[in-house]
Amino acid sequence: MLTTKDNETVCRVGPDTPMGKLMREYWVPALLSRELPSRDSDPVRVMLLGEKLIAFRDTNGAVGLIQNHCPHRGASLFFGRNEESGLRCVYHGWKFAHDGTCVDMPNEPAESDFRTKVKAVAYPTQERGGIVWAYLGPRATPPPLPDLEANMLPEGQRVAQAVLRECNWLQALEGDIDTSHLGFLHHGAKTDADYRPGTFAYYAVHDRAPRYQVVDTEYGAMYAAYRPAGEGQEYWRYAQFLFPFYVMIPSGVMGLQIWTRAWVPMDDEHVMFYSMHHANTFSQRGLPLRAVDPGASTPTPEAAALAIPMRMQPNTTDWFGRFRLIQNASNDYLIDRDKQRRRLDYTGIPGIHQQDQAVTESMGTIFDRTQEHLGSSDVMLIRVRRRLLAAAEALASNSVTPPGVDHPEAYAVRGGGALLPRGADWLQATAELRKAFVDHPELDPTIAGG
Ligand code: FES
Ligand SMILES: [Fe+2]
Repeated sequence: MLTTKDNETVCRVGPDTPMGKLMREYWVPALLSRELPSRDSDPVRVMLLGEKLIAFRDTNGAVGLIQNHCPHRGASLFFGRNEESGLRCVYHGWKFAHDGTCVDMPNEPAESDFRTKVKAVAYPTQERGGIVWAYLGPRATPPPLPDLEANMLPEGQRVAQAVLRECNWLQALEGDIDTSHLGFLHHGAKTDADYRPGTFAYYAVHDRAPRYQVVDTEYGAMYAAYRPAGEGQEYWRYAQFLFPFYVMIPSGVMGLQIWTRAWVPMDDEHVMFYSMHHANTFSQRGLPLRAVDPGASTPTPEAAALAIPMRMQPNTTDWFGRFRLIQNASNDYLIDRDKQRRRLDYTGIPGIHQQDQAVTESMGTIFDRTQEHLGSSDVMLIRVRRRLLAAAEALASNSVTPPGVDHPEAYAVRGGGALLPRGADWLQATAELRKAFVDHPELDPTIAGG
């Protein structure tokens, strides 16, 4: 559990909050590049860390991320005309370049220099791997982008997707570092007989109460869940938490899986989930769809359940109108009680991401963590909360730069599953496999499932 004070501290991300200040030390994903499809295309409302911003791609292709309210008298720049290298407010015609410079003030006398005294708040941006990154922090020269492999793959090999979730960012993230829900929420209706003996899937279903190891890392924390496997072996699942809101979950084979998940707070009660992954990891038709491992003849249980297409509502221009699922709280996520009753499916809710969405949103937008009863399976989320709170406190009290900000190379890691000899050193045995940017042709993807 957390005290009310700590819960507030770790969840809230506005500009004047400890966690909001911590997040502003990092580059953060602001939107997908394809949301600004061409030069001078339509501006987009972006809610980010509790700030209302307008994103636009100017005539030269540069992305502006500018305050919503025009500095003149506050009309929304969303209605602005995106023309000739700037966004022109439709109220009195003031025009702003992508960096916030006021470049035209047509309702003031030509000899006035008032224009040079006005600047809109605009944040630095850069694009990489299909994501528009933004820096909302205090440095004049921002730090480097993190070396997240999934965001650095060549065009054609990478996928970037987004899904909105209506709850606090940490509540959503904690679902990614709580591996024990997998055997219930997602695979509770499966039995040993559903999977080929000797695979990750078989062992995961065979033993639903694994043991855990957790360790602090330079970039955050890592944990592994382990359970008995075949003769003299154990099946280990490694997941990474990377400051401030990234997770690498162990859905596939460590060494082959290239996948980063980002839980970017829009405000305290909405989070935009970004999936950045290798095109071979999932199909491009929606999140997840094919065997996690391209060579696998039968999908892993995770991949099979992920294979339910994530059907999306059409995007609207609303602050919270982007990347909403059709399955949502208003229709009980399309739960099928008959399937649930007959144990054809544990939840009756189609789709893994949708199942996660249902349970984390059902906790309320910010769960009162004084009411929790944490068990041994919650060891990682306890560690992550502690690290976040400590980093926010160190920044606030002693101006200590948070983990990873100036160490982009620390992010070059992977998560995933592995079979290890019983009694092996869990850190040393996978040190090579956890390194990003390394090919492993020797690994067998079919070990995951089938
Ligand atoms: S409010 Fe924007 S130009 Fe007046
Ligand atoms: Fe899940």
